[in-house]
Amino acid sequence: MIISAVVLYLLLLSHQTVSEEQVREKGENTILECLDQPVNTSSLLYRWKKNGSVVATQNPSKPSEHLSILKNGSLLISDLQYTDEAQYECESQTKDGSSWQTHSNIQLRVAGGPTNISLTIQPATLLQNGTLYVKKGSDVYFNCSSESFPSQNLTWTVEDLAQDNSEREFGKNSFLGFPIVNIQPGDQGMYTCTSQNTLSKTAVNKSQELLVYYAPDRHPECSWEMVSEPSDVLFICSWYGGYPVPTLDWHEVLEESVIAKGPMINSTSQETELLKVHVNRFILHDGEEVKCIGHHATGEENFCSFKLKMPYPVGDPMVTTLEGSNITISCTEDVSLPPAKTVWMQKDNKIINTTSKYIVSDNNPKYKLTIINVTKEDEGTYYCYSENPLGPRELEVYLTVKNSAANGGAIVGVFVSILIIMIGITIGVTLYSKRDRICIGLGFSQLDDDTGDVLSLVDSDEEEIFSDTVPRLPPVTNGHATTLVEIHRIPSTDHDNDNADSTVQTHPDQKEPVQQTADC
Ligand SMILES: *[C@@H]1O[C@H](CO)[C@@H](O)[C@H](O)[C@H]1NC(C)=O
Ligand SMILES: *[C@@H]1O[C@H](CO)[C@@H](O)[C@H](O)[C@H]1NC(C)=O
Ligand SMILES: *[C@@H]1O[C@H](CO)[C@@H](O)[C@H](O)[C@H]1NC(C)=O
Ligand SMILES: *[C@@H]1O[C@H](CO)[C@@H](O)[C@H](O)[C@H]1NC(C)=O
Ligand SMILES: *[C@@H]1O[C@H](CO)[C@@H](O)[C@H](O)[C@H]1NC(C)=O
Ligand SMILES: *[C@@H]1O[C@H](CO)[C@@H](O)[C@H](O)[C@H]1NC(C)=O
Ligand SMILES: *[C@@H]1O[C@H](CO)[C@@H](O)[C@H](O)[C@H]1NC(C)=O
Ligand SMILES: *[C@@H]1O[C@H](CO)[C@@H](O)[C@H](O)[C@H]1NC(C)=O
Ligand SMILES: *[C@@H]1O[C@H](CO)[C@@H](O)[C@H](O)[C@H]1NC(C)=O
Ligand SMILES: *[C@@H]1O[C@H](CO)[C@@H](O)[C@H](O)[C@H]1NC(C)=O
Ligand SMILES: *[C@@H]1O[C@H](CO)[C@@H](O)[C@H](O)[C@H]1NC(C)=O
Ligand SMILES: *[C@@H]1O[C@H](CO)[C@@H](O)[C@H](O)[C@H]1NC(C)=O
Repeated sequence: MIISAVVLYLLLLSHQTVSEEQVREKGENTILECLDQPVNTSSLLYRWKKNGSVVATQNPSKPSEHLSILKNGSLLISDLQYTDEAQYECESQTKDGSSWQTHSNIQLRVAGGPTNISLTIQPATLLQNGTLYVKKGSDVYFNCSSESFPSQNLTWTVEDLAQDNSEREFGKNSFLGFPIVNIQPGDQGMYTCTSQNTLSKTAVNKSQELLVYYAPDRHPECSWEMVSEPSDVLFICSWYGGYPVPTLDWHEVLEESVIAKGPMINSTSQETELLKVHVNRFILHDGEEVKCIGHHATGEENFCSFKLKMPYPVGDPMVTTLEGSNITISCTEDVSLPPAKTVWMQKDNKIINTTSKYIVSDNNPKYKLTIINVTKEDEGTYYCYSENPLGPRELEVYLTVKNSAANGGAIVGVFVSILIIMIGITIGVTLYSKRDRICIGLGFSQLDDDTGDVLSLVDSDEEEIFSDTVPRLPPVTNGHATTLVEIHRIPSTDHDNDNADSTVQTHPDQKEPVQQTADC
């Protein structure tokens, strides 16, 4: 290849007078040299031909500012223009008027540019430092142009900001635009458009840093953490997976006040994707909603929130057991937000720990207290005490301890139970048949005379606080306060057992016991 090219070049040389292409830039002052002159030049006259016609002589009648011949015969062209593109020949003649001899045969090419290189990336947003950003998933158009004569070679390259020096060439054109459909974070980088003049090989370039922003896919996560002081809570908000990192702030929804803005002084974490803030109970209220709002540079906003709730431990408020047995009382606390710390306590606010006497099991949300080998001294009130930063609330459980009957106690017990149920049914039927009187006249006394039963109406209400001596009725699970009837059997003279005082609690779900609804 190379040899044949050289041979071809030599052939061309031998055939023609020296014809050489020279490229010059527009606007410059250029010299075309008159070569291959004889050794003794002192007696020579010069002239230059352009495209075969004489355009410059050594002593012209009208001197031209554009074209002039130097002493050594070279042609000076000032402020080169595209119209100067032509074939130039230098000719010389001895002063005695011999024939003109050609020395140089120059093909002059004039190149211009590249100038005014401009690139546009749309649609994109300009940051203060001159960097552009686009949103992930958008269709982005890259456009580059420049001015160049006679033509140019435009090239887009991208230098990945993450991976150094990985270049991608997008094409060569005189005017180059290309799209990236559904742009991804991997497309972020330093985009450079290079324009090269195809004639002069002069190259200029322009670069633009492009970032691809995206908000996290999911909404922020709200959580909390208990801290050592029970009056404080750590609110945690995180919103990971976005670029750049978002800003976060905690609000009280009703008060419309900002609890904390991130990143902030009291945020324990350096990352702005995570905002932790210590909140004191004095600014929190039951039923209030707190909200963490995440703001992303792309303009996207998202939030998480939760409603603060006081603890509300529930469970059976009355428990009866036999002496010597083990009894487990339990309560459930699953409404508190943030979650409460729940313990079992005795009358004097003494926290009950697991000992040989008690087994405390904390199986959130169920809390159990097992009393081993119950004695009469264990009778009394136990408290299921729940506390969260909003405050404390407790469930009172009254434990009744009965003497274990000497022998056959169980059989007597069963007999007594059946008897009680029978009485219950009887009273039920009686009451039902006399329900008008009960409702209108509230004439309980009439019943008392006949049966010796005491009927007391107890209004079971969620918010009611019961004294130690009056046991609380089972909580109504379906949410409505119902009037329940509690029957105490007053021992009559023919019963020698002082333990006959037994209690039957009625429940809306059970059929046999007497139930008077409030709207009677
Ligand atoms: C060059 O030519 C001139 C006139 O033709 C002559 O006078 C001069 O001596 C020559 N110089 C040399 C070095 O040959
Ligand atoms: C002629 O003179 C010009 C300027 O003085 C110089 O740049 C050029 O190289 C000279 N040409 C030759 C062939 O000596
Ligand atoms: C000179 O000739 C070239 C072709 O060789 C042509 O392209 C150019 O336009 C001509 N220039 C002028 C000034 O006539
Ligand atoms: C190119 O740039 C020059 C100056 O640098 C300016 O005068 C000219 O108007 C520009 N041309 C275009 C098309 O922008
Ligand atoms: C410009 O600012 C953005 C965000 O503020 C940053 O990610 C980027 O690195 C900055 N670019 C330069 C060249 O400073
Ligand atoms: C690219 O730029 C050219 C010239 O500025 C313009 O005509 C063309 O519409 C642009 N294309 C896009 C996709 O922006
Ligand atoms: C265009 O420029 C690139 C580099 O910038 C080069 O690799 C390529 O050969 C050029 N193409 C032409 C036709 O000049
Ligand atoms: C852009 O041009 C500068 C000189 O003007 C050069 O140093 C740089 O390497 C060029 N960049 C690219 C990507 O071609
Ligand atoms: C941040 O914590 C300091 C003590 O650690 C406290 O003095 C300051 O009031 C707190 N600032 C806010 C805004 O809560
Ligand atoms: C009561 O619990 C203790 C300890 O778990 C156990 O040793 C004992 O057998 C239990 N007694 C009864 C009557 O279940
Ligand atoms: C139970 O343990 C806690 C510490 O874990 C202690 O403060 C408390 O006094 C203990 N309660 C009793 C009744 O010993
Ligand atoms: C239960 O307590 C009584 C009296 O305190 C004791 O006599 C008995 O041995 C205990 N029973 C068990 C199983 O611990």
